[in-house]
Amino acid sequence: MNKSYHITTFGCQMNEHDSEIISGMLSELGYEESKERKNAGIVIINTCSVRENADKRFFGTLGQLKRRKEEGDDFLMCVCGCMMQQQHIIDTIKQKYPWVDIIFGTHNIHEFPKLVENVVAEKKKITDVWEEGGEIIEGLPARRLHKHKAFVNIMYGCNNFCTYCIVPYTRGRERSRKPEEIVREIQALAEDGVKEVMLLGQNVNSYRGLRESDGSIADFTDLLYMINEIEGIERIRFMTSHPKDLSEKLIEAFVQCRKLCKSLHLPVQSGSSEVLRRMNRRYTKEDYLALVSKLRQAVPEIALTTDIIVGFPGESEEDFAETLDLCQKVQYDSAFTFLYSIRRGTPAEKYEDQIPEEIKHCRFNRLVEVVNASSAQKNAAYVGRVVRVLVDGESKRERGYGGEKPGSGMTALAGRTDTFKLVNFIGAKELIGSFVEVEITAANTFSLTGKIVGKENFSVADKK
Ligand code: 5AD
Ligand code: SF4
Repeated sequence: MNKSYHITTFGCQMNEHDSEIISGMLSELGYEESKERKNAGIVIINTCSVRENADKRFFGTLGQLKRRKEEGDDFLMCVCGCMMQQQHIIDTIKQKYPWVDIIFGTHNIHEFPKLVENVVAEKKKITDVWEEGGEIIEGLPARRLHKHKAFVNIMYGCNNFCTYCIVPYTRGRERSRKPEEIVREIQALAEDGVKEVMLLGQNVNSYRGLRESDGSIADFTDLLYMINEIEGIERIRFMTSHPKDLSEKLIEAFVQCRKLCKSLHLPVQSGSSEVLRRMNRRYTKEDYLALVSKLRQAVPEIALTTDIIVGFPGESEEDFAETLDLCQKVQYDSAFTFLYSIRRGTPAEKYEDQIPEEIKHCRFNRLVEVVNASSAQKNAAYVGRVVRVLVDGESKRERGYGGEKPGSGMTALAGRTDTFKLVNFIGAKELIGSFVEVEITAANTFSLTGKIVGKENFSVADKK
């Protein structure tokens, strides 16, 4: 077996970060990342189970690998992530894909090196999935996707049990890391050149970390103020927030913490108070709208994004009209829209009045039209403005810079504003990882186009 690995990651940023950790552990064992799956000595699929589509894509990918095993290719096939926390999935893998070598879950990724060693030494197969998370394991290495920005877990799990959601079953109960551990990790990242951190948790607003110093509790905003002091870090983002736990203190932090980016992902899920009740979201449409108006009053330039599910069981045409109305009122910068998907073992699986697929699709299309209109309008307001952009990498768009083509030594780049707007522009590759000033020349529904008017030498303090 060759000492290379390839990871395919499905799902959210939490999963992406888990893959960075798996990658970091394999690097420490002397394995190298292979760009192609077909030559890799270890193939890993990190799965997501939030919607049925993700399940299907996993089994599709796994099916593609069967031939390689049948041809006697010597490689380790490993599967992990949220799907593995469900017994019926493990049963299916064992029955239909018995050639999988290692199955592990979300609570024991730190054990992966040991599992690999055992399987290689003893030429056997292993399934090791823990039902609940034990003590939080600190100090795991991570091989980051970007040099200049990093994901940082601040808590694990979720206690909310929204009735459609599988996450509380796959990621277990809420556990918060100690604030000092988080600060130490971010200090080390800053020393390694990281300028932007994305704090991760299923519900960061209920973060409660035990302080090492005096055993007291630090809440999420306490943590933000601590991170705000770390030298070298210039931007702080976080995800995800639950509207029911978003405090006045956090709104105030958007004003006071100068490094905290002015963008907020605040999943609403539905605009109907009755549907929200059956989803167990514990807020009403009016509560949510009041929260948005409080936020906008305190931080007028804040960009708001959301998640919305259409076709939750029992959603009537009137309920759906409430969702459209809410979107029209809020005017989101962008919204992720999902068709409701039945998840086995969740309360909503048993709800009567599941909505027929055609109605779901029709509502979905109507909703997308409304949210795209507000995205386009929000973006249009940027034209003519000069914004500060952290250059992430080469642009995925190949053309369309107002007819301009990159000149020699130049390339199409992309980055994000403080408000998380995607900006495409032309510049030198060396700018990747630094801040530039970009004048916005055109706006689309999902991105902005601009030209560089200045390089970064202004500090975060000058920005305000
Ligand atoms: N069906 C459709 N969408 C879902 N989400 C979570 N569970 C489901 C489901 N069963 C969506 C929610 C959540 C996002 C990450 O995925 O909108 O905020
Ligand atoms: Fe799922 Fe609700 Fe927890 Fe989010 S808050 S992970 S939607 S149960």
